[in-house]
Amino acid sequence: MMTNKMNHHAILMALFLLQVVAFSNSAQLSTNSRWIVDSATGKRVKLTCVNWPSHLEPMIAEGLEKKPINDIIQKISGNGFNCVRFTWPTFMFTRPDYGNLKVFESLDKYNLSAAKVGISKNNPQILNMTVVELHKTVVGELGKNKVMVVLDNHVSRPTWCCDGNDGNGFFGDAYFEPKEWLQGLTAVATTYKGFPQVVGMSLRNELRGGRQNEPNWYKYMQEGANTIHAQNPDLLVIVSGLNADTNLGYLRSKAFNVNFTNKLVFEAHWYTFGIPDKAWTAQTNNLCATQTKRARDDYLFLTSAKNSFPVFMGEFGIDERGLNVADNRYITCFLAVVAEFDVDWALWSLQGSYILRQGIVNHDEYYGILDIDWDRLRSPAFVSRLQIIQQINQDFTSKKPTYYKIFHPLSGQCVQIVKNEIVLASCNNASRWDQHLDGSPIKLEGAAGCLGVAGDGVSPRVSMDCSSKWKIVSSSGLHLAAQDGKGEYLCLEVNVSDSRIVTKKCLCVGKNLSDFRTCAGNPQSQWFKLVPANV
Ligand SMILES: *[C@@H]1O[C@H](CO)[C@@H](O)[C@H](O)[C@H]1NC(C)=O
Ligand SMILES: *[C@@H]1O[C@H](CO)[C@@H](O)[C@H](O)[C@H]1NC(C)=O
Ligand SMILES: *[C@@H]1O[C@H](CO)[C@@H](O)[C@H](O)[C@H]1NC(C)=O
Ligand SMILES: *[C@@H]1O[C@H](CO)[C@@H](O)[C@H](O)[C@H]1NC(C)=O
Ligand SMILES: *[C@@H]1O[C@H](CO)[C@@H](O)[C@H](O)[C@H]1NC(C)=O
Ligand SMILES: *[C@@H]1O[C@H](CO)[C@@H](O)[C@H](O)[C@H]1NC(C)=O
Repeated sequence: MMTNKMNHHAILMALFLLQVVAFSNSAQLSTNSRWIVDSATGKRVKLTCVNWPSHLEPMIAEGLEKKPINDIIQKISGNGFNCVRFTWPTFMFTRPDYGNLKVFESLDKYNLSAAKVGISKNNPQILNMTVVELHKTVVGELGKNKVMVVLDNHVSRPTWCCDGNDGNGFFGDAYFEPKEWLQGLTAVATTYKGFPQVVGMSLRNELRGGRQNEPNWYKYMQEGANTIHAQNPDLLVIVSGLNADTNLGYLRSKAFNVNFTNKLVFEAHWYTFGIPDKAWTAQTNNLCATQTKRARDDYLFLTSAKNSFPVFMGEFGIDERGLNVADNRYITCFLAVVAEFDVDWALWSLQGSYILRQGIVNHDEYYGILDIDWDRLRSPAFVSRLQIIQQINQDFTSKKPTYYKIFHPLSGQCVQIVKNEIVLASCNNASRWDQHLDGSPIKLEGAAGCLGVAGDGVSPRVSMDCSSKWKIVSSSGLHLAAQDGKGEYLCLEVNVSDSRIVTKKCLCVGKNLSDFRTCAGNPQSQWFKLVPANV
């Protein structure tokens, strides 16, 4: 009896311990080759984040003067974001005269009386907190709402980022002392121990400026990565590249050496800053081709290298008013590439406004998903275009064969067959297509039937006739063309005014099937991407 009872007790104890271990591991993430996975189950977890700044002068998460914190968090998760890239400035965690400031003191310091009234109304409980307590409170509320958090060291001295000469750009700049930076990483990694919603830390936003160089990048970033892991081994350690996070190409020739495994993720940013509207409008196909190549060569290669890593697109975004021509063309190209690679990402950005940015009170943010009053989406159409990249399309643990979704990045929708009619619809129920090789028929998975050209301006048909051979034309890799009865190539196109899918003369693509040298038209209604998927 006694022995039995002991055994029973021992088993209960063992079960109890197992449970404790399983529970404390529940939200931990690690990496498996190029994928981020749940450490406990090995299943893929995809970070689909939105940025939320807390690194400007007042060190107060933006928007708390506009809406109650839970209202903001509902807007995050309600729009398909499962994670926030939440920023912090080094000084807030290394210098008591910054970190110990109470929220109201920080507001008073900059005479932000309207923001103080707004916070008193919407989040009165935070006024007496220190800015560090507030940071933890926001992270805590995100966790309660099952939103994951990546903590991003955005600047040293709290301010708007990222001028090349702002003293925050690279190790050794006026405010960017490497020792203090390591101290800050240590403080944040330890502060957030036992916050399972905090899944990772990114080392530093957009390294830049005249001081940047590869030897110091390796030296300090390796040290920073090791430091985070030593302090908090649960976290993903997210490493950003040079040139404002646009370049990690040097990793091809020299590995990043750290003293841990299965936690390293690389981060890149992709905007279209600096590329004139005219370049995009005159050569949309060609510019998408060269920009895509740059992204592959500079960081996306990491997902397919022999020693592969996850890539986190930590920032991208557009003026959501739709007024920036270059932004409008770039984002369509971006969505096609990111859907294909199925990488993790964080949109810039959540905030419709800043309490104080660059000296301007209540600064509008056209790249924010929310309007200046944080009431509603600036552009519901833009947010809905993110749907396919919010999905897990490729699950490396799945045994199911790969098929393709035919994605139309300009609309953000996918091709679907409904009662033999070809339509654009939500990518949630995209039809599954099969194509063995470029230049061969595109078949509907399972059911018999192929996609066939029916004529100029006419919807393609799905039938047993598999004679149409679909070929990617143009350097963009985004026009799908097949020959009509007369041997002319016609491209798939969406008529944006009625959302009908037709085949038409290829836009900005010559009879030789390559791009016009310059083209006044916009070929993006014809852009389609075969997105590989197995879930
Ligand atoms: C805040 O207002 C006071 C009094 O008007 C003024 O002296 C001070 O310079 C202002 N501070 C800032 C940061 O604008
Ligand atoms: C903040 O603290 C002060 C005293 O330090 C107190 O008078 C005030 O009511 C507190 N405000 C809130 C919102 O808790
Ligand atoms: C890894 O490096 C960090 C920082 O230098 C150090 O604190 C830690 O002890 C090292 N861990 C191992 C396992 O060597
Ligand atoms: C697409 O999927 C949604 C649910 O995600 C469903 O409500 C809708 O009926 C589907 N549409 C079609 C045409 O199958
Ligand atoms: C697009 O659809 C509209 C409405 O059906 C039609 O008037 C227009 O001619 C179509 N445009 C093209 C390029 O086919
Ligand atoms: C293909 O044709 C277009 C226009 O017809 C021309 O601009 C382009 O240079 C040609 N490309 C090649 C590779 O010959």
